[in-house]
Amino acid sequence: MVDAFGLAGPLLRLLQPETAHDLTLWALRRGLAPRDSAPDDPRLATTFCGLELSNPIGLAAGFDKDAAVIGPMLGLGFGFVEVGSITPRPQPGNPKPRVFRLPEARAVINRLGFNSAGLDVAEDRLRAWRAAGRPGVVGVNLGKNRDSADAAADYAAGARQLAPSADYLVIHVSSPNTPGLRALQGRGELEAILARVRAALAEAVPQGRRPPLLVKVAPDLTPADLDDIAAVALAGGLDGLIATNTTIARPAGLTGAHRGEAGGLSGRPLFEPATGILAELHGRTSGRVPLIGVGGVASGADAYAKIRAGASLVQLYSALIYEGPALVGRIKRELAGLLARDGLASVAEAVGTGKP
Ligand SMILES: Cc1cc2nc3c(=O)[nH]c(=O)nc-3n(C[C@H](O)[C@H](O)[C@H](O)COP(=O)(O)O)c2cc1C
Repeated sequence: MVDAFGLAGPLLRLLQPETAHDLTLWALRRGLAPRDSAPDDPRLATTFCGLELSNPIGLAAGFDKDAAVIGPMLGLGFGFVEVGSITPRPQPGNPKPRVFRLPEARAVINRLGFNSAGLDVAEDRLRAWRAAGRPGVVGVNLGKNRDSADAAADYAAGARQLAPSADYLVIHVSSPNTPGLRALQGRGELEAILARVRAALAEAVPQGRRPPLLVKVAPDLTPADLDDIAAVALAGGLDGLIATNTTIARPAGLTGAHRGEAGGLSGRPLFEPATGILAELHGRTSGRVPLIGVGGVASGADAYAKIRAGASLVQLYSALIYEGPALVGRIKRELAGLLARDGLASVAEAVGTGKP
């Protein structure tokens, strides 16, 4: 079997990042992916917003934007996969090149700008996935079209169309690459969007289980922004938060020829700021709002730090580019070892127990 990233990894890294990504998706769709068939350590089993997962490590949004490789990515050992961001109508995103590796910093800068095949393509693929009845938690991350004047209508359209095939839904208002998007994190804007999306959900899933509604936030929020978001969450406007997206900040000392490129920075330099925002949200919501921690995770210790800062689940993307698919199994083994070391029987026992 060809190892889609492992053996080919050094070769893939000679290509433009987006070309390498397209080639990886192509190989994954043809079944050229490694599988992690080892059962998960029972300590890693957990629940999130009523969903049951065999481990808390997930694939962050942006890798599988169009729901093309759900099965292969779950097969790598992820406990859950988040597809998207998906915009209502197809759109190409920003001009290329728009993804840059900073290998010295183990980081990535992207300004993709929501390239998306649109809701219809995603719906067909998600329905086919559901019809196959295969196990695995699949979240759906919703975006808005760049030229849309009514953001709430876009998120509501996404929820209406994809809720029946989503285990959870994410309102993505934190990309730095779509003009005006991050302003939607303000209290009034967020409440208005959530009200429209909830109405759409009631229509789309009149009976039975409605998918939990999460909001994904930026790492570049002020304390006042965080107060607003926590207030909306505590008022019951949403079911959980994802912290965080990429940052527009450029930490002092950032290395790499592409460090001056515009866009969102992810990977190792994001770990500290994203974990800080996560801890702030955990504190502001007194641990009452389920959180997913994402940003710079590349080891079991990183995942454990996110969990101790308040995350019930953890996601990653950038480290996969540098470490390849064996990373997922390694993180799970290391995390199970850390829980055992600290005498904890489950991930849930560790949530929010310490400072990062
Ligand atoms: C190339 C690339 C594309 C991304 N696209 C999306 C996206 O479409 N929607 C989204 O919510 N986040 C997107 N993200 C952000 C990731 O989901 C994640 O929040 C961020 O990269 C931090 O995690 P990491 O440091 O493990 O990569 C993208 C990240 C990268 C690197």
